[in-house]
Amino acid sequence: MFKKATYWAISGLKHSKLMRVALAVLILALGATFVAWYKLFREVEQVGLKTPEEWFKYGSIGSEASQGIPYWIWRVMPKMFPEYLPGPGGYAALGVPWERGRETPVGFSIKTIGFPRVAFNCAFCHTARYRLEPDGSPTLVVPGPAPTINTQAYARFIAAAARDARFNPDAILSEIDRVYELPWLDRLIYRYLLVPSTKKALIKYGQQFGWTEEKPDWGPGRIDPFNPIKFGILQMGTDGTIGNADMPPLWNMKARAKHALHWDGLNTDFHEVVVSSAIGDGTTYKSVPEDNLERLEKWLWEVPAPASPFGFDKAADSPYRVDAKRAAAGKAVFDQHCADCHAAEGKRTGSVIPVGELGTDRHRVDMWTAEAAKRYNAYQKEYDWGMRHFQDVDGYVSVLLDGIWLRGPYLHNGSVPTLRDLLKRPEERPAVFYRGYDLLDPVNVGFVAQGAAAEQTGFRYDTRVPGNGNQGHLYGTELTEEQKQALLEYLKSL
Ligand code: HEC
Ligand code: HEC
Repeated sequence: MFKKATYWAISGLKHSKLMRVALAVLILALGATFVAWYKLFREVEQVGLKTPEEWFKYGSIGSEASQGIPYWIWRVMPKMFPEYLPGPGGYAALGVPWERGRETPVGFSIKTIGFPRVAFNCAFCHTARYRLEPDGSPTLVVPGPAPTINTQAYARFIAAAARDARFNPDAILSEIDRVYELPWLDRLIYRYLLVPSTKKALIKYGQQFGWTEEKPDWGPGRIDPFNPIKFGILQMGTDGTIGNADMPPLWNMKARAKHALHWDGLNTDFHEVVVSSAIGDGTTYKSVPEDNLERLEKWLWEVPAPASPFGFDKAADSPYRVDAKRAAAGKAVFDQHCADCHAAEGKRTGSVIPVGELGTDRHRVDMWTAEAAKRYNAYQKEYDWGMRHFQDVDGYVSVLLDGIWLRGPYLHNGSVPTLRDLLKRPEERPAVFYRGYDLLDPVNVGFVAQGAAAEQTGFRYDTRVPGNGNQGHLYGTELTEEQKQALLEYLKSL
């Protein structure tokens, strides 16, 4: 009896010792799992963004999980590899606006998923920047079309930096040390995990975009938005098409509610366009931030076009003064020659005008095919993104002209620098000009596209390069000089 009790006591002791060891191992394992989760996957809501506009500029669209670059690597890259940027000044060399006191330029979000990650968002391409005077300070307009931002240069920069031998843990950590003291665990994580995995991911990203090197450069303010989707998520294989397109404004989407969207009208549903834009930027089904996108949609629906810097009330000697009488005459010209396609109530406004009738460069519309539309509508059906409205079209949308003073260069491919040039016959439009300079041209309406300063900051746009053609849209080209001047005066105030 005694023996038995002792036996039980002893074996119980053994048992409980074993249990304790097991428990300790379990706790350690759980602890390690927790730390790994906490340091690598824990998702933290962004704080400090107050208005929908701030969300648009700095909010996450859910692409950090798949595309985010660890903040500290992103932060030191321009210092380590300035030679891969198009000019001096760090990321500002990409033409991105940087507001005082912010950790990133407009168009980039920082979201913590385990560790802070940086990714670009809609404002990367949909933020306009302009100046009225050469030495004046720039004004930002969200959600305007970005005339200065060179997204291709960004893609090239991060890929080239990653391929460089100096992109290694020692070099990157010592560069980080100069600006921030990483806690020891973060340091280990950067050294053994983040630097090697980011290097690999960015090299792969560069390879995925390799096809762009065989096609004409986008230059600032333009991208080839749908070929990456065709070649990537729709798995259609690369082809010879060129889809280079200007960034459009996203203000007042309510007024475009019944319009075909995108330059060629390839989708007719605003919500689908927003979600597919986010997918194009790296949002995945798991990461799609419904609340953020909904907030964004609501805001884009209502946010008005910016007030024009042109006005009847400007000083008599200001180049921004609009002549009221002339503008009234211009409205009559507009009503007769343009309103059908461009006025809010125009019969053909917002519809796709066949490229045969319009005559502008075909490349962008030929890039998108019936097969691509079919695949996108079927895309990941099991997840039900709900895409139903992608279509194949053969023309370009007759867009509303609100805020047209800020939308140069003009046409879907940005091939005509100013409104005055658009009213000239194609052979008289500039064959070569410079885009990406943010100074407004109040006389011709658009951005200054010639001269030393434009050449120095701008991208040389040659209309003879495939996809860059400036032909077509002959409307208004046969008007008298007087009528053209009047029409221009009217367009300034839209
Ligand atoms: C890398 C640049 C880039 C980013 C980032 C980007 N867009 Fe765009 N967006 C474009 C370009 C270029 C077009 C015109 C494409 C075309 O039709 O060829 C466009 C078109 C659109 C349109 C159609 C507008 C119209 O009037 O037809 C909407 C809406 C839109 N984008 C919303 C978004 C939203 C929302 C986001 C973020 C989730 C976003 N975009 C991110 C470049 C971008
Ligand atoms: C038959 C329809 C039609 C008529 C008439 C018409 N346009 Fe257009 N307009 C279009 C289409 C379609 C586009 C887009 C073409 C493209 O990008 O290739 C366009 C583009 C434009 C753009 C460039 C918009 C941008 O954001 O880059 C301006 C400016 C413009 N038109 C002004 C005018 C003026 C001024 C008139 C009258 C003299 C006029 N249009 C007459 C159909 C028309």
